[in-house]
Amino acid sequence: MIVLYGRPLDNKNQLVSGPYKRAEAPNNCPEFPHMSGGVAFVTGSSQGIGKAIALRLASDGFEIAINDIDSKLLALETVKKEIEESTGKQALICVGDVSVEENVKAMIESVVKTFSSLDVMVANAGICPCGPLNDMSVEEWERAFTVNVIGTFLCYKYASLQMIAQGKGGRLIGASSNAGKQGQRMMGIYASTKFAIRGLTQSAALEYGKHQITVNAYCPGPIDTEMARKAAQDIGGDIEAVLNMYTQTAAVGRIGEPADVANLVSFLASKHSGYLTGQTISIDGGLIFD
Ligand SMILES: NC(=O)c1ccc[n+]([C@@H]2O[C@H](COP(=O)([O-])OP(=O)(O)OC[C@H]3O[C@@H](n4cnc5c(N)ncnc54)[C@H](O)[C@@H]3O)[C@@H](O)[C@H]2O)c1
Repeated sequence: MIVLYGRPLDNKNQLVSGPYKRAEAPNNCPEFPHMSGGVAFVTGSSQGIGKAIALRLASDGFEIAINDIDSKLLALETVKKEIEESTGKQALICVGDVSVEENVKAMIESVVKTFSSLDVMVANAGICPCGPLNDMSVEEWERAFTVNVIGTFLCYKYASLQMIAQGKGGRLIGASSNAGKQGQRMMGIYASTKFAIRGLTQSAALEYGKHQITVNAYCPGPIDTEMARKAAQDIGGDIEAVLNMYTQTAAVGRIGEPADVANLVSFLASKHSGYLTGQTISIDGGLIFD
């Protein structure tokens, strides 16, 4: 049996001899709309990393739909206003829970109804339960997997169905974590969900690649958001001490800002990333190397 890049070649996937035909540019680098009117949907974007991504993709030229749960409606309205003031374009608010299938379907339908397309899906929404494994309950495990993993799966599924129907490729982008590359004390459930997002991202990349849909995830280290501060408190009690510890450990001597992650997502969303798929890219100022 021949194995190439870890994939066995069976009868349906034989080595083909004969002249090699180079892919035409539209196939190997789809003319994906960037800075010229594509449509991006960012979940969990009332604050933190999701908000920074929505603002960045809006300034890159995308039409933007933003999402969060209903208790975050006021914050979503502020983000919508910021996008509209900075770009002069209307942003769409989609309130809903990414872990509820009907919500995800309905939100994607409303994005397409408003902007006639969906080109970039950023499955950013997530939660971060912390604590010693032996203090965690099955309910906490189920909630974290429901939001982080089922939520990402539903976003990939319904966005890709729309992108396949459109026939012009697309970008699916998920949120993993440093904790999705290396287990961490007091973050066992969270780390397990973020490892799962890597597996999902790799598998989705293999399935959707033939439609010119790329699938990647960002993998931040500590980024200064509400989630990171709450996690630092839950883990160490003293937020400042934990943040200082990360500052001293990171190669670049600081913890990240949401805009650092948005810079990476801007590239992943662009036409320039067409040959990059199935990857989970660390963005952590040099905390862990893989
Ligand atoms: N901040 C970090 O240090 C860090 C590090 C690694 C990975 N991440 C990941 O990046 C993503 C964003 O993190 P953040 O720091 O901005 O967190 P955050 O808590 O500041 O923001 C997350 C947002 O997601 C929303 N959300 C939660 N559950 C939802 C649901 N079911 N449906 C819709 N929205 C929901 C929240 O209401 C919140 O507004 C998360 O997936 C997180 O796990 C963050």
